Amino acid sequence: MLRVIRLAATSLLVVVLVGWGLAWFAARDPDGLAGRLLARVGSAVGLEANSGAASIGGPFQLVDSTGRTVSDQDFRGHWMVVYFGYTFCPDVCPTELQTISAALDQLGPAGAAVVPIFITIDPARDTPKAMGQYVKLFDDRLVGLTGSAEQIADVAGRYRVYYAKVTPKGSSAYLMDHSSFIYLVGPDGRFRALIRNGLTADALAQTIEKNIHSSG
Ligand code: NI
Repeated sequence: MLRVIRLAATSLLVVVLVGWGLAWFAARDPDGLAGRLLARVGSAVGLEANSGAASIGGPFQLVDSTGRTVSDQDFRGHWMVVYFGYTFCPDVCPTELQTISAALDQLGPAGAAVVPIFITIDPARDTPKAMGQYVKLFDDRLVGLTGSAEQIADVAGRYRVYYAKVTPKGSSAYLMDHSSFIYLVGPDGRFRALIRNGLTADALAQTIEKNIHSSG
């Protein structure tokens, strides 16, 4: 009997450690093997709309491009497509924001219920004004949110977003290393789906549509 308990405890420990390791690697490199694996496991176990989903997302207080304080409550009744990044991002962020915009176009009338939200993880440079100018380059529907370093750390923590400042050798300007997932949040404010980056607009639109339909 003791041996069985010890075996069960050991297996549980292994499962927890592997899960932890995967999550850590996925956060550092969302497009790497761990990120893809985790996204696949997430959709396989139905990370959408179940108890496991409670651990991603949640309340936030941030600042919009007019300098007004906004919270997650302001978006109730709408689906939120949330993406974290920064305006100085040289490649991934602009690509993803274009994809999100194109996916919303493809959703047609259903897209009207969806609010795309871009939250900066570089609040030191991304002022409300800078965010406002940046999001307009992509889509008039796109809401750009910034905040104090503490507010950004808080929302990034709730969404399990990894970000870190990196300064390339010989450069005075810094870059932000950051994880790159798209988060789908329901009209009730609850997290529904974690979507990996690099999808086509078509595939993203289908994923969003599937989630909207399955929640009735
Ligand atoms: Ni980026």
